[in-house]
Amino acid sequence: MKQITSLAEMQALVYPADAKIGFVPTMGYLHEGHLSLVERAKDNCDITVVSIYINPTQFGANEDLSSYPRDLERDLELLDSLGVDYVFIPTNEMMYPQPYLTWVNVDEYSELYCGQSRPGHFRGVATIVFKLLNLVRPHYMFMGEKDFQQLVILQKMLADLNHPCQIISCPIVREEDGLAKSSRNSYLSPEERIVARSLSQTLLQMKAMVAAGYKDATQLIKIAASNLENNGANVDYVELIDSRNLRKQTEIDDHSRMIMAAFVGKTRLIDNMLL
Ligand code: PAJ
Repeated sequence: MKQITSLAEMQALVYPADAKIGFVPTMGYLHEGHLSLVERAKDNCDITVVSIYINPTQFGANEDLSSYPRDLERDLELLDSLGVDYVFIPTNEMMYPQPYLTWVNVDEYSELYCGQSRPGHFRGVATIVFKLLNLVRPHYMFMGEKDFQQLVILQKMLADLNHPCQIISCPIVREEDGLAKSSRNSYLSPEERIVARSLSQTLLQMKAMVAAGYKDATQLIKIAASNLENNGANVDYVELIDSRNLRKQTEIDDHSRMIMAAFVGKTRLIDNMLL
């Protein structure tokens, strides 16, 4: 595995002709969720590139940028053992030369849901992903459904800007008790870890209710939110949306997805499920 730590080196990298290039952008502190994307890229592409970069512009002023977990050495070992070809590790100076003035924003979609409580977050995500795509030049980018709003926003960005890269969305990898794997799970105390289960449990319960014939979105949202609160989580939002365009739904159909964010202690967790 080759480590690339300069812009010039990344830009000058010449791939073999006809090779399909797969890319997995990450912020590091890798877990099985990230690794499932890497494996999928390895299975489907000739060359796999992973980036590790904690992008400061997607963190709000009061968020966890400085405490975001890091373990580069372990990340590199994991990626090497999976047979990754290149790992790109840029610095803030490289990605945001001062004065930095150019941004990518997917209007409307970025203001919804997570965008409400994290203003500017998706602008930071869209900007860094667009920059990484320009540098890495992949045919395919592998992303997790864990961050569902991010996935739809980036799909819209590529479509609107006529970018040829195709996003391959991959299922959420969960802990044994259902909690979606996340680098931020490391913040949870043992007590909070139990509360955290209520997100996935609630989603499964809603899926079962839909299977039993429930169709009223407002009612399902209400039940889900009170379920979370009763379990000790602090609801940020619970919504039922159309998976294709993030629009709120009033009635369940084949595209209905419940998305949620909740604070467990100080940790903000997100989860979602197709109902
Ligand atoms: P990060 O949170 O490190 O996630 C990197 C990728 O891993 C994203 O596509 C995310 O959806 C996926 N992922 C995380 N947990 C997962 C899980 N439990 N199951 C499946 N996939 C999972 O998302 C980001 O970084 C950043 O916003 C980034 C796109 C790198 C831009 O900075």
